[in-house]
Amino acid sequence: MTVREPAGRQSSQQVVLEVNDLKTTFNTRDGQVHAVNNVSFSLSTGELLGVVGESGSGKSVTMMSLLKLLPSPPAEVVADSILYEGRDVLSMGDEELRELRGGGIGFIFQDPMTSLNPVFTVGYQLTEAIRQHLPISKKEARARAAELLAKVGIAQPVERLRDFPHQFSGGMRQRVMIAMSLACEPKVLIADEPTTALDVTIQAQILELVRDLRRDQGMGIIWITHDLGVVAGIADRVIVMYGGQIVEHAPVKELFNNPQHPYTKALLATMPSIDASRSERLYSIEGQPPSLSGAPTRCSFAPRCEYAFDRCLEENPPIVSMDNNHQAACWLRHPQYTAQGSQHPPEEISLRETF
Ligand SMILES: Nc1ncnc2c1ncn2[C@@H]1O[C@H](COP(=O)(O)OP(=O)(O)O)[C@@H](O)[C@H]1O
Ligand code: SF4
Ligand SMILES: [Mg+2]
Repeated sequence: MTVREPAGRQSSQQVVLEVNDLKTTFNTRDGQVHAVNNVSFSLSTGELLGVVGESGSGKSVTMMSLLKLLPSPPAEVVADSILYEGRDVLSMGDEELRELRGGGIGFIFQDPMTSLNPVFTVGYQLTEAIRQHLPISKKEARARAAELLAKVGIAQPVERLRDFPHQFSGGMRQRVMIAMSLACEPKVLIADEPTTALDVTIQAQILELVRDLRRDQGMGIIWITHDLGVVAGIADRVIVMYGGQIVEHAPVKELFNNPQHPYTKALLATMPSIDASRSERLYSIEGQPPSLSGAPTRCSFAPRCEYAFDRCLEENPPIVSMDNNHQAACWLRHPQYTAQGSQHPPEEISLRETF
């Protein structure tokens, strides 16, 4: 099933990445884990798409699947299509994929140490990354590398090029990673919780840099975070993931002003006030995240949902489009229950005690 995702982009923007019906499973000794289920979305040039959801909701696996970064086995990735500038990623050969990763789509990983090689200097790694994708001399690449380090807020960038990754603190390494992923001016940047380990001042600086990149280079950005405050500040559109599925997808203002899925409402209700301290900025919703073993046969949020009714336990709700470029996967929002003359879900019924 291919679901059209919310439109609303400006006519000057072009779709650069399009994902249709992505499914990722892991074959494990304990059975099949359905980490990503029927995920569809697209990204345009100059657009920032925020992706939020609790830990384990499939955010990272979705993005790794796009670039074929998951080892297979155990991972199995299938999709109707994953298109980068109209070319299908799933049918790309090794050479084309290498060109895509870094050249076309930059990726900032959650853990910077997995992407920096401890035995080479940061300068060497940056210049190599630049020269792999751009036809420039070593000297030019080195100057560009220093410029990038300065852009991400690293003092004495020329000198720091000679240092090895272990000579940088955790936050600094994360910034080096960000510089690395920007080295080849990719058309798409996927940032997987990139600022979680950084202090607030540096976070603000990185967010500022991202704003500039969108404006000046028309870079399309996917920003994964559990911080709804960050999403509110920078995203154009937001995807909310739960149990390996997109449960809500809407333009940012619409999502915050008019949330439709009970999970999104719960997330927003747990959002701390602006002046809350960092340590308080953790979201907790009563109950456990769902098990991902086996394909979903019911709404995966049902055990935690105060509005659950019988249909929710019988069938997984499909994602449906509503007004204002808004989509949600919840039976309460399905035309069968919302259209005139439709069935009405039982009121005031809570099935939580059944779990
Ligand atoms: N190598 C693996 N083998 C089995 N299951 C995995 C593997 N990697 C990820 N998963 C499953 O995929 C789910 C989603 O993971 P992930 O995308 O990392 O979540 P998020 O980034 O939203 O925190 C995890 O809860 C886990 O069950
Ligand atoms: S489908 Fe049912 S259980 Fe799932 S979020 Fe909607 S009301 Fe809650
Ligand atoms: Mg993750």
